[in-house]
Amino acid sequence: MQLNNARILLTGATGGLGQALARTLSAAGATLLLAGRDPARLADCANRLGGATQSVSADLTRQQDIEAVAAAARDFDVNVLINNAGINAFGLYERQDWPAIQQVIATNLLAPMQLTHALLPWLKSREQAAIVNIGSTFGSLPFPGFTAYSSAKAGLRGFSQGLRRELADSPVEVVHVAPRAIATALNNDAVNALNLELGSHADAPDAVARQIVAALRAGRGERHFGFPERLFAWLNGVAPALIDQALKSKLAIVKRHV
Ligand SMILES: NC(=O)c1ccc[n+]([C@@H]2O[C@H](COP(=O)([O-])OP(=O)(O)OC[C@H]3O[C@@H](n4cnc5c(N)ncnc54)[C@H](OP(=O)(O)O)[C@@H]3O)[C@@H](O)[C@H]2O)c1
Repeated sequence: MQLNNARILLTGATGGLGQALARTLSAAGATLLLAGRDPARLADCANRLGGATQSVSADLTRQQDIEAVAAAARDFDVNVLINNAGINAFGLYERQDWPAIQQVIATNLLAPMQLTHALLPWLKSREQAAIVNIGSTFGSLPFPGFTAYSSAKAGLRGFSQGLRRELADSPVEVVHVAPRAIATALNNDAVNALNLELGSHADAPDAVARQIVAALRAGRGERHFGFPERLFAWLNGVAPALIDQALKSKLAIVKRHV
């Protein structure tokens, strides 16, 4: 994917990874349409990038906001959609209330699917186009304490794979990336403490953004970042019972932190 002169809709642009992606893409010559919920934070992010950066505020769990963002993206002449907005909810599934679980699925899975659906005819009519879905290691290695989030990210990975295969004869590339933990506000103090005790490394947002942009440039279908997370995610695909056993031994630690 040629990034110089690409026109990119980036959701979750006000977040930790979103801001790093915006800087990296902008430095690569792309022009950005930033999306987030908070108009003031969006304006601040857009001002820092300068140039022709535009922004649109929207809550992507609302149907009418998705339609408004899609319309703004067409007006912007978008040719790349990056589905980056996301939320986490750390806790034991049975103790989480249903609205919180629904919000996790709506934000991490339904919103990217719906925004993609709204923009697909437009993207298919471009000479070169791409959709980038920001998944997670947990999408291939579902983890106790993150059941709803893991379910949403596993669904997003399935969506990316199905869509990529359906668009194989079109100009639209579908890239799915699965980072391990990143040092952003997505992870609350309890998650940070858990990661510390488990020895799970949290990457810097700028480093992850560079890997994502490299994957987009190369048109890589699916990329998993970080070792040993990449190996465990693969192992979970071929021998899930081994991972069941390994994670059973970590359950008491997870329960202590929720
Ligand atoms: N941090 C990690 O450990 C990690 C690891 C792997 C993958 N990821 C993925 O990376 C992506 C970015 O996460 P992050 O770490 O940058 O998190 P973050 O700093 O918390 O940022 C989340 C972004 O999503 C936006 N957002 C949340 N709910 C929204 C909604 N209903 N409508 C519109 N926008 C909404 C937020 O906008 P507001 O300004 O409106 O709040 C914010 O811009 C997510 O998909 C996440 O799952 C993160």
